[in-house]
Order: sequence, then C-alpha cells, then structure tokens
Amino acid sequence: MTPADTALRQRVTSAFETQFSTQPAYIVRAPGRVNLIGEHTDYNDGFVLPCAIGPSTMVAASARTDATVNVVAADFGNATDSFTLDQIASAEQGWANYVRGMVDALKKAGFTLSGADLAIAGNLPKGAGLSSSASLEVAVGQAMLALTGTSVDRTRLAQIAQAAECDFVGTQCGIMDQLISAQGKAGNAVLIDCRSLALTDAPIPDNMAIMIVHSGVTRGLVEGHYNERRRQCEAAAKAMGVVALRDADINLLNATPLDPVTRARARHVIGENQRTLDATVALANGDLVTLGVLMAQSHASMRDDFEITVPAIDQLVAILQTAIGPKGGARMTGGGFGGACVAMLETDQVNHVRAAVEQGYRTPDGNPALILIERPGPGVAILR
Ligand code: GLA
Repeated sequence: MTPADTALRQRVTSAFETQFSTQPAYIVRAPGRVNLIGEHTDYNDGFVLPCAIGPSTMVAASARTDATVNVVAADFGNATDSFTLDQIASAEQGWANYVRGMVDALKKAGFTLSGADLAIAGNLPKGAGLSSSASLEVAVGQAMLALTGTSVDRTRLAQIAQAAECDFVGTQCGIMDQLISAQGKAGNAVLIDCRSLALTDAPIPDNMAIMIVHSGVTRGLVEGHYNERRRQCEAAAKAMGVVALRDADINLLNATPLDPVTRARARHVIGENQRTLDATVALANGDLVTLGVLMAQSHASMRDDFEITVPAIDQLVAILQTAIGPKGGARMTGGGFGGACVAMLETDQVNHVRAAVEQGYRTPDGNPALILIERPGPGVAILR
C-alpha cells in the first residue's frame, strides 16, 4: 500500500464508521486509468493502450438483512443516498447514479444481491479524464458481489459497469475505462482489442516515466459531445459498409462519399487504431522517439479531425512536447473537452519537464496544474 492508499483507506473506513456506527466487512479498491494512446477507438471495436494508475476509488461495505442500499459519499461532504434493490430509479445527485446504475446493471446481469451499507471515497481528480466514474462503478460492483460471496470474471464485471454507464447514466461509452480498472496490471500498460476483449501486456520500462498533467478544465461526458462523436463514427462505418470503423482503412474512406465532418471523424479513428498498434511496438522496443511521434500525431488528430481538444489542453501539450524534445511525447488523454494530458519521457527528464509546466502553464483559475508521476498499478482488488 502506498501512503496515499493508506490515507484513502482510513478516510473510507472512518466515513463508514461514522455513518453506520460499525466497522465495514469489506474494503474494495478500483483504480483510475490513464490512456497512453488510442482515443475514441474503443467503441469502434478498435485498440487502446491504457494503464491503471495509483489514485483510485475505495468502497467500504457491509451486507444488510433487508433490501435497502444506503450510501455515504465522503468526497461530496458525506452526502447520502438510499434506495431499495427492487426499485432503482434515477437519483438527483450525479454521483449516486453511478452507484444505483451499477447495482441495477448487476441485477439485470442476473446476480442475486443483498442490501448493503456502503461508504465511498476516492483520490482521483474528478472530470480530469482519469476515469473516476469507471473506478466507482467497478469498485461498487466488486463490493456488492463480495457481500454475497459471489465471484465474477473481471472482464464480465467491466462489461456490467459499462452497461451501467450506458443505460443508467446515459454516456454511450466504450469498454476501455471499466476494463482497465478491472484488469489493470502492475508495471504494464495493457493493449486491449476492444472487439475480442483480448488483453496483451505492454511492460513499461523502468527508465520511462508516465506524467499526467491536469489542465484544470473539467469536462462532463454526458453534457459533452461524446455521444455525438459516437453517432458520427457509426454513420461513417455504415456509409462504408463495414460493421465498425475497426474494419475500414484509409483507401475505403477515400473511396466513400461522406460529408467533410464525418470523414474527418473516421480519419481520426482509422489512423488512431494503427498508431495504437505502432505505439505498442515502439514501447516494446523502448523506442521513445517513435512513441513521441505517434503521440504528437494522435494529439493533432484529436485536435483537427476529431475536434475534442480545447485551447488550454493544446497549450499544455505544446509546453510538454517542447520540454520533452524528441525522446518521448505528450497528448491529451481521455474523452476530451478538457481533462488531462499524458506524457511519456525518460525518468531523468521528469524534473526539467515538471519545471517547464510549472513555469509555462496556469489552470483557468490561475493555479499551477496538478502533476502526477505514475507507474502502472493493479486492477480492482478486495483489500479486506
Ligand atoms: C471516455 C470513455 C471511453 C473512451 C474514451 C475515449 O473515457 O469512457 O470508453 O471512449 O472516453 O478514448
């Protein structure tokens, strides 16, 4: 356990004890993630290369003898929610819908659940594109199943969490965030084939650092343009006569009549799938130069063709790229419209690059950006 994990575990335990006047039977931890490359490819049956990170969501849980689920959220001023298993409607508080949605999705997947007392706390910045919501869904799901002694395949757990987000929360997301939160592996990024859900380890060499910089521009997927992008991708696939953009190549795209916007969206996804595969090879070869080129291309494509970056993010990426130079690179990570940038660089460049960000960038509030240096961590785990 890292010191941050220990502090979070204490926080979630004490929230539970204060609310329910007893100790929790279980504590579950599910990590956030950073995506190294492969953006908006997952729901196109394509490839992504994320890794689980240190910051996480923890859920403390005990079973109840009735069908009530009581929840306290330490990160939202100990706000509470309560519902019964047989009637799960949409909640007013945004965070509560991830809990309700996950419980509802577990039920729909055929699991028998018990009522529960739950406390939730996390140390992932919210709205930063680091999957605080997916980690919440996965942690709640694992905790609810632990209460009835039910074991579950981690990929299945991720699929149920994805269903919670699509059906209950309303973001038509892909599988990446939930799957890496469930299946993350210490020391490794994971190449995910989002069609077959095959996972391939991609070790991160010891001399390579993963830097995450939060722009301070927070974004919301539901009210954002995420679902619109997904519809455009599906329209492009349909026009080309393929099941998903995974099956298209640039020649087919060029030969297909499409409006300029839909064409640009498809161009991003087709290029990004190939870049993700190429980046996996570059990573395996320890080739930071090629990795840097691919990350730069990915960012330009998100900015110009997929149009999901914002000026603050573009500025931050430019600062990172200049400071890093040719050995490594930087790009926006996550769904877009704000959030964080990810950089890959040599470990001995970290201080100098950090200084460049501290000097050159301020969040919209005028504060220095939050900077995290991460090693890939494990996926969901029952800690107690
Ligand atoms: C969000 C979604 C993911 C994925 C990314 C973009 O994080 O939840 O499924 O589509 O955006 O790559």
